[in-house]
Amino acid sequence: MAQRTLIILKPDAVQRHLIGQIVSRFEQKGLKIVAAKFIQIPQDLARRHYAVHEGKPFFEGVVEYLASSPVLVMVLQADGVINMARKLMGKTFGNEAEPGTIRGDFGACRGYNLVHGSDSPESAAFEIGLYFKPEEIVDYTLADEDWLYGSNE
Ligand code: RTP
Ligand code: MG
Repeated sequence: MAQRTLIILKPDAVQRHLIGQIVSRFEQKGLKIVAAKFIQIPQDLARRHYAVHEGKPFFEGVVEYLASSPVLVMVLQADGVINMARKLMGKTFGNEAEPGTIRGDFGACRGYNLVHGSDSPESAAFEIGLYFKPEEIVDYTLADEDWLYGSNE
């Protein structure tokens, strides 16, 4: 099975009416959406999500931010999707991210950065498990998959 990653359109993406434009970036790239839900993340789930950062000075702030307002959580699937999604997102903070990336095009600050993407296969497996039951992830074929993912060899 192709690789999977967990993407979250964070509270500022929803509040700033950017859901459609951000989802479009992933769709245009050809990354397949295999699960999605619109939820408000409870504080305890946000703490588990960012558990690797527990003890760091910014931990309480990012937990508060992630839980502050509804988000769109998605699983994307494609070979190499973890790195591709991170490249589309750009550097962590909008004031440093390159133009052409999601954070670079839509963000200018360090406090809120619009989108989350898993950073490794291990964190992807952990994070997908936090938000989705296996049966909530849909295995299907896109009609243009040969063109999107094919090889001409
Ligand atoms: P994310 O996990 O949200 O996709 O972001 P990321 O991989 O680019 O950044 P990461 O290092 O995992 O940090 C998680 C979130 O914590 C906030 N942060 N603040 N003040 C700081 O030095 C600092 N460092 C990180 C950001 O909101 C980041 O998204
Ligand atoms: Mg991270």
